[in-house]
Amino acid sequence: MTEDKRYSGVAMLLHWLIAVAVIVNWRLAEAAEEATVRADAFAYMGNHKSLGITILVLTLLRIGWRLIHRPPPLRASMAGWEKALAKAVHVIFYVLLLGLPLGGWLAESYEGHAVNVWGLFSLPALPVGENEALSHTLAEIHGTSGKIMLLLIVLHVAGMLKHMVVDKDGNLWRMLPFGTPKA
Ligand code: HEM
Ligand code: HEM
Repeated sequence: MTEDKRYSGVAMLLHWLIAVAVIVNWRLAEAAEEATVRADAFAYMGNHKSLGITILVLTLLRIGWRLIHRPPPLRASMAGWEKALAKAVHVIFYVLLLGLPLGGWLAESYEGHAVNVWGLFSLPALPVGENEALSHTLAEIHGTSGKIMLLLIVLHVAGMLKHMVVDKDGNLWRMLPFGTPKA
């Protein structure tokens, strides 16, 4: 039955929402970095932080949902190395999807800053004390991890394309409500 080979509707919705949000958030960080007017950089960064915290919430929902709705097993036709690589990339995605926003929040906390989320509420600075140097190191690790994530997205999409074009196993349809995924 096709339905056993597909992710659930909720898992699909969260996957695509998070995917779009991550790409937009990367562009916001770059826009802040490249802005020549300080007020613009500040505005982009404000949106970057708000969207980052939104991604954290969506990811917690995604992981919670995954714990009670097991995803369809990877196709039996996949080679051992393919399964291991796909699983490793998925696990690292979840680690980054949690680690990037939490690391960003921690970096802000070391500056003594609360994180305003869409002007709706503020996450208080975590009680870690102020430490400018540590905040900068964390921000650097954050930026580098964000770039590593982009490389993984390229790898993830390349894997999907290899399955669709070379193996013709309908891999993409596992994450969409149409098309026919194969075993
Ligand atoms: C941009 C950020 C993205 C992130 C963070 C991401 C993350 C993930 C994660 C964590 C999974 C594993 C789901 C699970 O088992 O819990 C997954 C599966 C999948 N993703 Fe993505 N994804 C992204 C973008 C994309 C894009 C752009 C495509 C396709 C164009 C795509 C196609 C798929 C497919 C087809 C699966 C199912 C893999 C399988 O089980 O065979 N993803 N993604
Ligand atoms: C999943 C969510 C997030 C992703 C994918 C992400 C990604 C990135 C990337 C790629 C950069 C580097 C831009 C560059 O160097 O050109 C960056 C910078 C930054 N992000 Fe995030 N971020 C996320 C969440 C957050 C959150 C929640 C906060 C704060 C609460 C935050 C605060 C920052 C700050 C302050 C910088 C500038 C770092 C510096 O001074 O070099 N980010 N982010």
